[in-house]
Amino acid sequence: MASGPFGSMCAAGAWFAWWFLNVANWRLCPYGRVSNMEAFHFGCSHQSPGAKPKHTNIVFLKTHKTASTTMQNILFRFAELNNLTVAMPVQACGHQFCYPRSFSSHFVHLHTLRPNLITNHMRFNKTALQRVMPNDTIYITILREPASMFESLFTYYSRHCMSFRRVPNGSLEAFLAEPLRYYRPQEIESMYARNTLTFDLGGDKDNSIKDLAYAQNFVADVEKVFSLVMISEYFDESLILLRHLLSWDLEDILYVKLNMRTESSKKRLSPGLPEKIRAWNSIDAYLYDYFNTSFWDKLSDLGLDCVAKEVQLLRQAQERLMRSCFGGKMPLPRPAAEIKNKDLRPWQPSDKVDIVGYDLPVNISREAQEHCLKYIMPEISYTRILLHSQSLQHRRSYQNRPVQKSHTLQQHIRTTLPRHSQVHRSQPGPSVGQSPGSGTESKSTPKQS
Ligand SMILES: *[C@@H]1O[C@H](CO)[C@@H](O)[C@H](O)[C@H]1NC(C)=O
Ligand SMILES: *[C@@H]1O[C@H](CO)[C@@H](O)[C@H](O)[C@H]1NC(C)=O
Ligand SMILES: *[C@@H]1O[C@H](CO)[C@@H](O)[C@H](O)[C@H]1NC(C)=O
Ligand SMILES: *[C@@H]1O[C@H](CO)[C@@H](O)[C@H](O)[C@H]1NC(C)=O
Ligand SMILES: *[C@@H]1O[C@H](CO)[C@@H](O)[C@H](O)[C@H]1NC(C)=O
Ligand SMILES: *[C@@H]1O[C@H](CO)[C@@H](O)[C@H](O)[C@H]1NC(C)=O
Repeated sequence: MASGPFGSMCAAGAWFAWWFLNVANWRLCPYGRVSNMEAFHFGCSHQSPGAKPKHTNIVFLKTHKTASTTMQNILFRFAELNNLTVAMPVQACGHQFCYPRSFSSHFVHLHTLRPNLITNHMRFNKTALQRVMPNDTIYITILREPASMFESLFTYYSRHCMSFRRVPNGSLEAFLAEPLRYYRPQEIESMYARNTLTFDLGGDKDNSIKDLAYAQNFVADVEKVFSLVMISEYFDESLILLRHLLSWDLEDILYVKLNMRTESSKKRLSPGLPEKIRAWNSIDAYLYDYFNTSFWDKLSDLGLDCVAKEVQLLRQAQERLMRSCFGGKMPLPRPAAEIKNKDLRPWQPSDKVDIVGYDLPVNISREAQEHCLKYIMPEISYTRILLHSQSLQHRRSYQNRPVQKSHTLQQHIRTTLPRHSQVHRSQPGPSVGQSPGSGTESKSTPKQS
């Protein structure tokens, strides 16, 4: 680790280096942490990082098509680094907590009970979550501007959501001209076609457009529960707020963008469409406008200048990360079919959309491979791997044997990835054969000898 692509990091960017070196190696770069602190004196230094212990008990309500997969990846990596338990769905729920059903504690895998974190897709239910999560849990979610979000949903779920499938020529314009002609509120995937954010947050997606009081009360409820509502359009700024809320370090919020579409599968909205989308998704629009405003208030409270500086530091750190992980240059996102490691291929919703991913170059060091892999691991693969490692841990602690977790995890990645290349092709159905509380491990989870 002292030489190779990371050799010059102590000198050039010491503050950034320490996260890259694990505990055994970090002595090689003794100024890493100090310089990290220094870097933050240029940022929002009135809350010096490290002064408070990092907050670890978190509910992240993962909304659809909002950059939430990238956020989930940040949380998964944080959990692994800090030995935290992430609640995972039982096998019958697939990789989501039996979405679109309302969350229930029965959906949590027995091997992941007493969790610190929960991030996989669910329909929010605070009462049920409180039964599972510690009482000092911080609630976070993320919203996206409704017009671009709807265009994304329309394309992504063009095959899965009947309301969209009925539309002639797959035309968004046609759908918005007469939404009620295609939309059936009772259909199983209808939540992708109207007020998706509201639905995910546990609200009534079909409440009357004219009922402003409903939207106002709903927003007030959301604001009471969630300490931070991130905004996709300002993802990096959101992460700075997150870092301050949770007393996390900069390296805890580093990420590589995941689950993106290729530019060619994005459509430009013709004039007039954004307004129609907002009218059709009026509760979401109300929600978004409200929380975008309060988001900017929070940024102002922290100081726009220092937020901008921390964003800049984050982006510089990210560039270094990309260079170290992808062999000296920025990686080009690739269509799934071209990604050699099948575990790194993101799920493809339909042949109309290309969800891009990344491959790791083969010529980087083993340490770098292991580290970098997690940044680009798609949701379903990572969920499976985390459930597996936590199940192993659960069994071992049950058998009352001492565990070396970091060793277990590394071993796990080495041994499972090449052997187990099957990525789940489809999302779970409407939770057929749900067996509440069944703590059975997924059959597709690789067994480790
Ligand atoms: C992680 O958990 C294991 C097993 O409980 C323990 O031995 C190890 O010290 C922990 N590591 C950290 C960083 O907390
Ligand atoms: C939310 O969870 C609570 C406790 O499990 C349950 O009583 C309630 O019915 C749930 N709400 C919905 C809308 O399912
Ligand atoms: C939270 O849980 C802890 C430990 O279970 C308990 O000591 C504490 O009193 C609880 N706090 C509240 C506000 O319920
Ligand atoms: C669908 O496409 C066909 C052929 O391009 C066209 O004739 C028809 O008017 C279109 N229908 C709608 C509803 O846009
Ligand atoms: C969010 O709020 C800010 C500040 O009021 C505003 O400048 C910006 O246009 C809003 N963003 C969107 C996408 O509406
Ligand atoms: C890996 O190979 C690529 C392409 O041949 C090259 O650009 C890069 O510098 C190499 N990286 C390392 C760490 O050797």
